[in-house]
Amino acid sequence: MLQRINQGFYPFSEFMHDALYTPGLGYYSGGRTKLGNKGDFVTAPEISPFFGKLLARLAIPLVKEGKGIMELGAGTGLLALQMLRELEAHELTPTYYNILEVSADLRERQHKLLSSELPHLIGRIHWLESLPDQLEGLIFGNEVIDALPCSLIRWEAHNIYEIGVGQKKNSLIFTDRLLTDGPLFTEAARLKSLYGLGREENYTSEIGLACLSLIKSLSKRLVSGALVFIDYGFGESEYFHSERQQGTLMCHYQQQVHSDPLFLPGQQDITSHVNFSRIYEIATQSGLNLSGYTTQAHFLVNLDILDFLKGIEPINPEAINALHGAQILLSPAEMGEIFKVIAFTTKDTALVGFNSWDLSRLL
Ligand SMILES: C[S@@+](CC[C@H](N)C(=O)[O-])C[C@H]1O[C@@H](n2cnc3c(N)ncnc32)[C@H](O)[C@@H]1O
Repeated sequence: MLQRINQGFYPFSEFMHDALYTPGLGYYSGGRTKLGNKGDFVTAPEISPFFGKLLARLAIPLVKEGKGIMELGAGTGLLALQMLRELEAHELTPTYYNILEVSADLRERQHKLLSSELPHLIGRIHWLESLPDQLEGLIFGNEVIDALPCSLIRWEAHNIYEIGVGQKKNSLIFTDRLLTDGPLFTEAARLKSLYGLGREENYTSEIGLACLSLIKSLSKRLVSGALVFIDYGFGESEYFHSERQQGTLMCHYQQQVHSDPLFLPGQQDITSHVNFSRIYEIATQSGLNLSGYTTQAHFLVNLDILDFLKGIEPINPEAINALHGAQILLSPAEMGEIFKVIAFTTKDTALVGFNSWDLSRLL
């Protein structure tokens, strides 16, 4: 990293990439525990088994047609386990369950969990090295696209700057350079003219070109099936709201959330919220149909989480934990509202989970 700084301007997007993915040293490529109560953050499947159980309902019709599943960024493997168990409860087995996982350490943990819990299915679970040329079935990722490296931009009244990372004495500091051309400039200039960014006061936020390029690759490769992402974020006009002048960067370290991405590179997760409007544009321009966009809470309610909850009597610690986990997934003050679900399908596919509380007008 310090060597890279000495070679000239070091864009924040490259710094984020290196901090998360440098082999052996990056947050996702190193050996930190990362997920779960002993790690830096917890995700929906770690909080409640209902999450994977309900998500499996999206896969049921596709699996019945003989199609498979591909999960991006499978974390500890728990979501895969919950989904495969629920499919088995419906006497269904997908022809394959592919996992595209960037972290070698997490791949190992996923393999260990899935081979001990579902030894009879392990022959159908494959860890991919890269995206296949053609995709079909259910392709999904929970809390993955927020981790893709983003650029940090500062809009001023007359100029746009890309923020980078430099060094002063023994500390990392932010630097910047004037942006005048290229894809990042085009995107930043579009946002400036649409939302007046920097007109009154300097405005800092993120642009996630890597996320858009992944969505484009997935959309173009999907020949039959559905593409589903669950993550925190907003439609674009809310993302670039005049009151969100410091952007949405968030870091997770030992269950604490803060906004300093230069703190302990490689030891903490760095994320930004997702601009769902751009995902919508890219996926539909690539030929997919929007199947739905709603909050996580309404998505889970549409999938009948309340039926599961009705059956629970809070008479023992396990039942109380299950209710508490569901409350975290659903509550607007926790994950229910800030997390959104967006889904796209090819023409021959219909999806459940979006029959009420459609928010596509906000895209
Ligand atoms: C926040 S965790 C979410 C894990 C899991 N989906 C869950 O819900 O518990 C992010 C996951 O995405 C993986 N990941 C991060 N960047 C990735 C990338 N570029 N391609 C594939 N996986 C990635 C991480 O290694 C990790 O497994």
